[in-house]
This record gives sequence, C-alpha cells and structure tokens, in this order.
Amino acid sequence: PYVVTSPCIDVKDGACLDECPVDAIYEGARKLYINPNECTECGACASACPIGAIMLDLEVPKPERPFVKTDKEFFSKALPGRDEPLGDPGGAKAAGKIGVDTPFVAEFQAAE
Ligand code: F3S
Ligand code: F3S
Repeated sequence: PYVVTSPCIDVKDGACLDECPVDAIYEGARKLYINPNECTECGACASACPIGAIMLDLEVPKPERPFVKTDKEFFSKALPGRDEPLGDPGGAKAAGKIGVDTPFVAEFQAAE
C-alpha cells in the first residue's frame, strides 16, 4: 500500500483526499493515514501531494519506515481515547474526521 510520511504532519494539504478512488485516506489530527487494506496502489494520491509525502511502502526510505507501521496501526490498534480499533471502515468520508493520531505521530518532532 501507499503510506503518508512525515512531511504531511502539521501540513495536511488535503489534495490527496479528492484523488483516491476508493476513499482510503483518513484524517487524523496532525496527518492523514492510508488504510493498507483499502488502498489499491493506484498511485493517484502520491501524484497529487504537492510535497511528496505519499509513497509506496516498499520505496519508503529508512528514516521514514516507522510511518509504514504507524499507518497500519492507525487502523489495527485502538487509538488514544478509543476502546476499539478503527478497522477497515470502507470509506473515509463516511467515517468522518478521526481527529486523533497514533501515539507515534502525536509525539513526533521533526529533526531540526
Ligand atoms: Fe487511494 Fe490509490 Fe492512494 S487507492 S490511497 S489513491 S494509491
Ligand atoms: Fe498530506 Fe500531502 Fe495529502 S501534505 S494531506 S499527504 S496532499
């Protein structure tokens, strides 16, 4: 699947949202997250992001590898303040803004 990496944090341009044909890009508080089970790897989101934050998991450079895991865990683990994992809602518009982040992203600080 495609993955949303660190440049999206606190930027959230949003251009990717309208491009996903299966609506697999969900909105957290600081960044967006791609559902790895719903992404069809079409690549449209990656082309749309003006800062190149979205890339194929297999092509994510080493310093950004934790974002492969965190996009997965956004859906597979219960988020802070929630009892149940989000799972695979089948569409971000219907799910609405999720409004929280994985602990990794919530605490993320960009290198100076
Ligand atoms: Fe959606 Fe295609 Fe990206 S399915 S998440 S726009 S790779
Ligand atoms: Fe983020 Fe780029 Fe989408 S900055 S919201 S991944 S267009």
